[in-house]
Amino acid sequence: MSTDDKRETILDESNKNSFDVNEIRNLFPILDLHVHDKPLVYLDSAATTQKPFSVIRALERYYEQLNSNVHRAIYTLGEEATAAFEETREKVRQFINAEKTSEIIYVKGTTDGVNLVASTFGESVVNSGDNVIITQMEHHSNMVPWQMLCKRKNAEIKYIPVDEKGDLVLDGLEDMINERTRMLSLVHVSNTLGTINPIKKIIEIAHSRGVPVMIDAAQSVPHLKIDVVDLDCDFLTFSGHKVYGPTGIGILYGKEKFLEMMPPYQFGGEMIIEVKFSGPKFNELPYKFEAGTPNIADAVAFKPAIELVEQIGYKNIADHENSLLSFATEMMEGIDGIRIIGNSDNKAAVMSFVIEGAHPYDMGTLLDQMGIAVRTGFHCTQPLLEEVYGLPGTVRASFGIYNTIDEVNYLIDCVKRARNMLV
Ligand code: ALA
Repeated sequence: MSTDDKRETILDESNKNSFDVNEIRNLFPILDLHVHDKPLVYLDSAATTQKPFSVIRALERYYEQLNSNVHRAIYTLGEEATAAFEETREKVRQFINAEKTSEIIYVKGTTDGVNLVASTFGESVVNSGDNVIITQMEHHSNMVPWQMLCKRKNAEIKYIPVDEKGDLVLDGLEDMINERTRMLSLVHVSNTLGTINPIKKIIEIAHSRGVPVMIDAAQSVPHLKIDVVDLDCDFLTFSGHKVYGPTGIGILYGKEKFLEMMPPYQFGGEMIIEVKFSGPKFNELPYKFEAGTPNIADAVAFKPAIELVEQIGYKNIADHENSLLSFATEMMEGIDGIRIIGNSDNKAAVMSFVIEGAHPYDMGTLLDQMGIAVRTGFHCTQPLLEEVYGLPGTVRASFGIYNTIDEVNYLIDCVKRARNMLV
């Protein structure tokens, strides 16, 4: 076995209950990089996670040994590609505890998942005078599709407010929901504040008023176990690339009863069972929503990413990331002129901050020179940062399973040095 092949092998079963961050880091080749002659300190996993060897090799193997179109071929290669493609669907079903694979739809990512639901379910149920509820902390991808739908339909869009600490203000929710509310869509974990929203409670409130709920789980799936049956959400979507998988592949979960009643999102091959000059007959679920040749390679390579998360285990992941977050928060709070944005008691893996007297971009640029990758700006939550907090953006450090306490110490040291240069 070559060194790289060994690095592809996910952790030994004996390590299942322990967490050795160095062993985890060894699975991710990019972490060996240097940037500006400094070791890369990657603190932007909320934007996209790095990929383990197992995912990279799965992509290579797919194109070297399996490439052919799915659900079309009667030849061996086509059948094998189809089997691998469907194996990931089954893996995802188990991963989020959905009842059926027919409820697991491949999409490009979270944005595509929300657009699909807004354009099909939303389009069918929202009419003039109705309303849709989202929150002030939504990513643009769970805001703009609903804004556009409401605009098109002459419907109202309402926002659950966010307080100073970064928690949703839920006192007014019961009153906000009325007989014209057709949908509630919200983020599970905020990509900007890190807040973990009490989605189970919100789903219960919405359901008690007959309102279906969609969950944007893009930032929660990497950190928290999702069980769609326990949550009882009606739709849930997430991206492969934020959970150590490839870009361009994501998942939309929907309850079968809703998916059945929804019109297709796009038209073409695969989503039809029969076409006559007089018109088409649509395919069964989930294929009704998968028009055209799908992203087969990335779907196949998503499976080892899920396997890695399962093998490490959410408890180990949460314990490790929470200790990084608490340590980083405590250290950052000790730096003069730095303010953390998002101070909920219930947070996951994200630390946003601002520097008195300096723009986030300048801090981000200086940190890059020191080898640190952080995101700066609005993080696709412009209304939240600009209109709720009155900020021009933040610097955001976000953590993944491969980050270390040494990296946090280095970040703190570099933030202090950068601040001294800027202010
Ligand atoms: N939604 C991603 C982020 O928060 C891109 O950075």
